[in-house]
Amino acid sequence: MLNFDFSNCRAEVVGFEHGITQDDLKVVAPKIDSSHKQMQKWLSSGEAFFLDSPFEKGLAERLRLAAREVRDSFDNLVVLGIGGSSLGLKCLSSACLPPYFNDLDYKHRKNSPRLFVCDNIDPDSFSALLEILNLKETCFNVISKSGKTTETMAQLSMVLPILKTKFGNRWKDHVFITTDPVSGPLRKFADEESVRTLDVPPKLGGRFSVLSSVGLFPAACLDIDIESVLDGAMAMVKRCKEISLETNPAYMNAVIFEIMRYIKKKNISVMMPYADHLALFADWYVQLFAESLGKEGKGMTPVKALGSTDQHSQIQLYMDGSNDKIITFLGVERFKKVNAITHPLESFDYIRGHSLGNILIASQKATTEALKVAKRPSITITLTDVCPKTMGELFMFYEISVAFMGALSQINPFDQPGVELGKRLIKDMLSKR
Ligand code: PA5
Repeated sequence: MLNFDFSNCRAEVVGFEHGITQDDLKVVAPKIDSSHKQMQKWLSSGEAFFLDSPFEKGLAERLRLAAREVRDSFDNLVVLGIGGSSLGLKCLSSACLPPYFNDLDYKHRKNSPRLFVCDNIDPDSFSALLEILNLKETCFNVISKSGKTTETMAQLSMVLPILKTKFGNRWKDHVFITTDPVSGPLRKFADEESVRTLDVPPKLGGRFSVLSSVGLFPAACLDIDIESVLDGAMAMVKRCKEISLETNPAYMNAVIFEIMRYIKKKNISVMMPYADHLALFADWYVQLFAESLGKEGKGMTPVKALGSTDQHSQIQLYMDGSNDKIITFLGVERFKKVNAITHPLESFDYIRGHSLGNILIASQKATTEALKVAKRPSITITLTDVCPKTMGELFMFYEISVAFMGALSQINPFDQPGVELGKRLIKDMLSKR
């Protein structure tokens, strides 16, 4: 259900200076075997647990059962979390729920709560949300793998006294905590207060956790078909099992990036979906790519764009500015709404009979073609449609590919020393009174 077209990266298409040659492939080839072995090592040490986690028996049923408690009692679900604890859910929900979901009535939301993801601590927007919501009908899902991220703990610390004042001992009915099963201050708090919890597998890294309780519990609360998300992820794990670049698209993508970065000297990776449902996928990708690979002076800068909106903003630069980027187009074969334009304005007869989806797809093709002519390398990934299954495939494709990119360039894609340092410094600064 996901199709890959890597042809616009080839030297025959975009020229020898910017495109990949057989010689380039020969340079990287010796690293493929050792990187595959590294992936297997990460799998046995548990660092690549993201490959195993979708296969956990009974996971979807467990999360669905817990989600029933939210669906049966609440009209609003507020998620408190940041980074890997929020971006996957934001992407999955905007991909799988109808547009303007929160503005729909209960029936059109299929009896699901509205979703609010608070992944910043701007006091104005956070307080405004707490004032707008009817807290009687609101459940908070606090998500923090480590249980010690200042932003999330600050949000919880703001919410708790309000809930306690309003509901007394029954404040616990309004909270679900998603965190490490054993360690961390949030786990300690949840255990001491007997708050309902969901476990984040200890070996699963934040930005690799969308396909666990982190992304899937709130998704189940919104009646997203999480079984299909997991099916898609498992199908992609199977599709990317073999080492051969011919059959393993995640490895192929990684090898292309390795060549683009270190031989063709491209410094920027643009992720450009052509569908509003996929707009937030670019945010998820940016974090996965930046935090996993931006280490030891290595990595590329990920940039998010949206077609066709950014054709009227960024494309001039991509076409005509410095040739230092590789662009990934994320397209969709079928949109849900297919109404054709029957009465175009005068002089626009060329759009007669086309749907907006057709025009969007044509815009993507035209931009891809123009970039090719300008000798700018690009990759095109096409989803048959945006649905839970293809989203599962897409998340897993990039998790495997980014991990393999780490192996190829000898970077540990699973840690984030830069982020950790920042987290520690915030704590130090705020502790000085
Ligand atoms: O990928 C990561 O590990 C980070 O982006 C974390 O997800 C982010 O810092 C939030 O951490 P936590 O879930 O521990 O609150």
